[in-house]
Amino acid sequence: MGFIVAVDGPAGSGKGTVTKRVGERERLIYIDTGAMYRCVTLYMLRNHIDIENMEKVKESLENIKIELKIEENKQKVYLNGEDVSLEIRTEKVNQFVSPVSKIAIVREKMTEEQRKMSQSQDIIMEGRDIGTVVFPNADVKIYLDATPEERAKRRLKQNIQNGMTEETYEQILESVKNRDYIDSHREIAPLKQAEDAIYIDSSDMTIQEVVNKICEIIQEKKNRK
Ligand code: DC
Repeated sequence: MGFIVAVDGPAGSGKGTVTKRVGERERLIYIDTGAMYRCVTLYMLRNHIDIENMEKVKESLENIKIELKIEENKQKVYLNGEDVSLEIRTEKVNQFVSPVSKIAIVREKMTEEQRKMSQSQDIIMEGRDIGTVVFPNADVKIYLDATPEERAKRRLKQNIQNGMTEETYEQILESVKNRDYIDSHREIAPLKQAEDAIYIDSSDMTIQEVVNKICEIIQEKKNRK
């Protein structure tokens, strides 16, 4: 098994941007597990799968192939060969991803695929349960947090940059809090800090400061190995 860095935390904590940059600097393969759950959700929505029907969910999982690639410095997500990088970020997927992520067989399948990815390469993986469930023996574990208000502010800014202006700050804050609640109260693999994870509150930090801090922690660990 290669060197493994696990980064967990709630939506909007800056995990995505930070993890990708740390990966580039430390030469670790960047894996966004939220994108994998989003792909499954998109498949269920497109094919009108009743997520209460476990037979159907199981059958669907057998038909889903997810690939994560870096192309021209951007992460690309492919669902059965189709580039769905943008579609998995729509509000519709945002709404359904938490209920889909609660399903036991969905989590089993994703966890199995995530473990396979670490077999032959050094990785940095971000999600909700990476340090607690997927890789309890990860070399470095980070729990990245920020206040719900700060996270909603960041999402609003990102939306405006992407030309998505229909949601207000209040609506985003509500949706952030709602997703936090479902993600941290679900029965299987809830969002929580691993006991041995290093806690970083990014509310008053710049992206660069967070990146520097995580790189320092990785270097320290490598020096001790
Ligand atoms: O990181 P993100 O916001 O793209 O993740 C989308 C959803 O996927 C999140 O609300 C919960 C789920 N998820 C999960 O259950 N476990 C993970 N390891 C990653 C994401």
